[in-house]
Amino acid sequence: MRATLFPSPLEMTTTQRCSFLSRCCSTSSRSSSAFTTTSTREKQKKKTNHGQQRRRKSIVVVQNAISEPPETREESEEKTYNGALFPGVEIPRDENSSTELVLKKFSRIFPWGNGAPITEKVLFDLLKEEVRSAPLFVPLYQYYRDYGGVYNLGAGPKWFVVVSDPTVVKYMFKDNADAFSKGILTDIMQPIMGDGLIPANKELWAKRRPVVGSAFHGTWLKHMTDLFGRSAMNLSDKLEKHGETEQIEIESELYAMALDVIGEAVFNYEFGALNEETPIIKAVYRVLRESEHRSTFPLPYWQIPGAMEAVPRQKQFSEDIEMINAELTKLIREALENKQDVDLSEFESRDYKNVSDASLLRFLVDIRGDEASDRQLRDDLMTMLIAGHETTAAVLTWTIFCLCKHPDVMKKAAQSIDTIVQDPNGIPTVEEIRKLRDVRMCLVEGMRLYPAPPILIRRAIETVDLPKGGMKKSIQLKKGTDCFIAVWNLHRSPDHWENPDLFDPSRWDRKFTNPKIEGWNGYDPELVTGLYPNEVATDYAYVPFGGGQRRCAGDVFAMMEATVALSVLLKKFSFELACDEKDVQMITGATIHTKTGLPVRAKRRKP
Ligand code: HEM
Repeated sequence: MRATLFPSPLEMTTTQRCSFLSRCCSTSSRSSSAFTTTSTREKQKKKTNHGQQRRRKSIVVVQNAISEPPETREESEEKTYNGALFPGVEIPRDENSSTELVLKKFSRIFPWGNGAPITEKVLFDLLKEEVRSAPLFVPLYQYYRDYGGVYNLGAGPKWFVVVSDPTVVKYMFKDNADAFSKGILTDIMQPIMGDGLIPANKELWAKRRPVVGSAFHGTWLKHMTDLFGRSAMNLSDKLEKHGETEQIEIESELYAMALDVIGEAVFNYEFGALNEETPIIKAVYRVLRESEHRSTFPLPYWQIPGAMEAVPRQKQFSEDIEMINAELTKLIREALENKQDVDLSEFESRDYKNVSDASLLRFLVDIRGDEASDRQLRDDLMTMLIAGHETTAAVLTWTIFCLCKHPDVMKKAAQSIDTIVQDPNGIPTVEEIRKLRDVRMCLVEGMRLYPAPPILIRRAIETVDLPKGGMKKSIQLKKGTDCFIAVWNLHRSPDHWENPDLFDPSRWDRKFTNPKIEGWNGYDPELVTGLYPNEVATDYAYVPFGGGQRRCAGDVFAMMEATVALSVLLKKFSFELACDEKDVQMITGATIHTKTGLPVRAKRRKP
């Protein structure tokens, strides 16, 4: 199962896409090893000199790119970058004459004329197979270490600004969020999600978010733990049928489990994906795959007149969307026929155990005061089906991968389940989910290392002056600038994390600050109030669910679902990788998948 939720950086499907991006696009679904170690970290920490002009060496992206970062950050005198005149040419400093000012003004006629450095080595780097074969976020990380927290990326007519600085991210997500739209993401996702929340423009979003957000109220979330537990048990029972030495491809099983959960939660629809692949499941999977394909294809060929009829996979896509829409329309019509006006307070005090249909669809139809059209309901629900499926499955997949590499951490988490969870199958109550900190921090750490999605997209809809942050100088984005918020970079930066590539859930117990990073307040465990350390506690260095007003609407749902699933699985099994960890390769469209699955062996535990 391969699907996408948030277009990868390559989802800028405009005909102007530059050759660099086309090249990347065509290779973005190739792989890079997920293998990580901590060697060279001490050296790396010493050399971290964020905000200073760096000496740029050519990129070194090896299969285990993140484990052995290149030593590119050499100390130089304390000087901020003066802005690029042309690729490879910095605006000369001449503070006593007007030449510098004139050149700065001149540079603004170019897309890169914003004061940030340019990754001028990109084209050269793309000649290297190891760069071309890596998912795009891997080279973006290397450029980040070379060029700093805000840099220009591109060639030809289309340019992008890559942001990896938490202070700037805070500004874009929260302090001046209204100055940014979802940009190209809207173009890509609209044929599938319509006017759902993720691609929605500001006006529509402001109307729908309060309604959709209130559907995730506490009483409903509590009720959902039954569904999470049932689905996790179905998976656990399925795994039990395999012998201890048998190889199980766990990633696809986790995707099936997540589809079963989201189908019932969103539409009260039983996909039964863990049991068999029905035509509707196949259609859902194909639509998700197509959205991934579109997100990584250089041209929006599906917009070419006649393409939807002439290209076989587009024809298939149209048929699949039609089939899903027909099913959704049926469910929506049925729900509308029994519409009752219910106040939010009534929903919140409901005894959901005695309710036959506790779906989000039922809520959105019945909530008093909201008269959404059939079409809007379809778009909202389709968005949540996609948003809530592959993200949670990816987090579980990568957390299990990390746990296999750290059996001591897996053991500790399992022991905490034995101690805290009363249910013999390991299904925790809401109260127990709160207590299962060791398990939750494994997921939190898994999401740090393998964020889903690894990159978020924004477009400046007005001219904005970014805060200085670690760059130590303000960069002015012109109206229309497309930006990638490099979540992978934020989560793996040696400026914001000790031993950034190490899977270490205990890091979340410790405070971390870095005075070198201007304006960044660091991570403070005391600020963690919910199920995971959010953007506030980490001052926007950790944003797996985004941040600010467009923050994920299903974050608590997802954390609870993943905690229940991991609790049930670790109660019964201790997992071992059934392949060399170096053979676990990453591919990406939106979230990060393995290239060929995650083969594991599930040993029975004796608690
Ligand atoms: C671990 C699982 C999940 C992760 C990592 C995740 C991540 C994210 C991120 C990063 C965003 C922000 C996108 C942006 O700023 O461009 C987002 C938005 C969203 N997510 Fe999630 N998500 C997860 C699960 C879910 C689930 C289970 C649901 C619903 C059932 C959901 C529904 C949404 C919706 C509706 C939005 C749009 C919010 C808005 O714009 O107001 N997500 N998600």
